[in-house]
Amino acid sequence: MSDFDNRQTGTEYGGHPTDDTPVERNYPAELECDVLTRTGATLHMRPIRAEDAEPLVHFHLNLSSGSIYRRYFSFHPELSEKEVEHLTEVDYVDRLAFIVEDGDQLVAVGRYDRIPHTTEAEVAFLVADQYQHHGLGLLLLKHLADAAYPLGITTFIAETQADNRSMLGVFNDSGFPVTSSIEDEVVTLTFPIEPTVASRARYAGRRTPTHTQKKDKGSHS
Ligand SMILES: CC(C)(COP(=O)(O)OP(=O)(O)OC[C@H]1O[C@@H](n2cnc3c(N)ncnc32)[C@H](O)[C@@H]1OP(=O)(O)O)[C@@H](O)C(=O)NCCC(=O)NCCS
Repeated sequence: MSDFDNRQTGTEYGGHPTDDTPVERNYPAELECDVLTRTGATLHMRPIRAEDAEPLVHFHLNLSSGSIYRRYFSFHPELSEKEVEHLTEVDYVDRLAFIVEDGDQLVAVGRYDRIPHTTEAEVAFLVADQYQHHGLGLLLLKHLADAAYPLGITTFIAETQADNRSMLGVFNDSGFPVTSSIEDEVVTLTFPIEPTVASRARYAGRRTPTHTQKKDKGSHS
């Protein structure tokens, strides 16, 4: 769980994980899109911004203690100012989070954090209780992988509690070749995020025709 660890990663935009030069990337508006849930609702997915601090605090306050525990491995009812800043202020290269919005309500967050000087990143997800099992976990994973891969991140790593069936289900259903190990009731999952026929198939039809994402020559989706 590295969320509240303010390490400077400093990799180069485009993916050279050993370069220590801090890199800036403007807000990647091209990653915004509409997505279709399993219930048929169209929601908006976009990269997080510093201005999302207040909606994120509100989102967190409305989560069940069970969901918070699953995500942070501790009971953490309120986010501190520093934590909110860390979670909302990302560089869109080594750290990126997508949020999902239903109207003006923030209903889910998925993020990756590159492990410094490597091509690996940790991923984590949190979906509002009433939106769980609607397919948002899988959508967030797919969008994170598509955003990370062109930036030189080739592998995602996640840690989840061994009885977290939903999270394990998302990874195992993703179409990525997941390997896992377990220690002290915590499962560590590792998988390459290069798109596969299976991962594309799992996602087919889940982005709506009205999405705003631009066609990108470098896209792997
Ligand atoms: C874990 C979590 C992120 C999953 O998000 P989600 O939006 O509920 O995930 P999905 O809806 O994509 O998938 C959930 C389930 O639906 C299944 N599913 C997803 N898409 C499906 C589809 N098209 N058809 C059938 N089943 C599907 C998944 O296999 C999974 O199965 P299960 O719950 O029946 O075992 C969410 O439940 C959550 O926020 N939990 C609390 C925090 C947490 O556990 N975070 C993980 C720590 S990193």
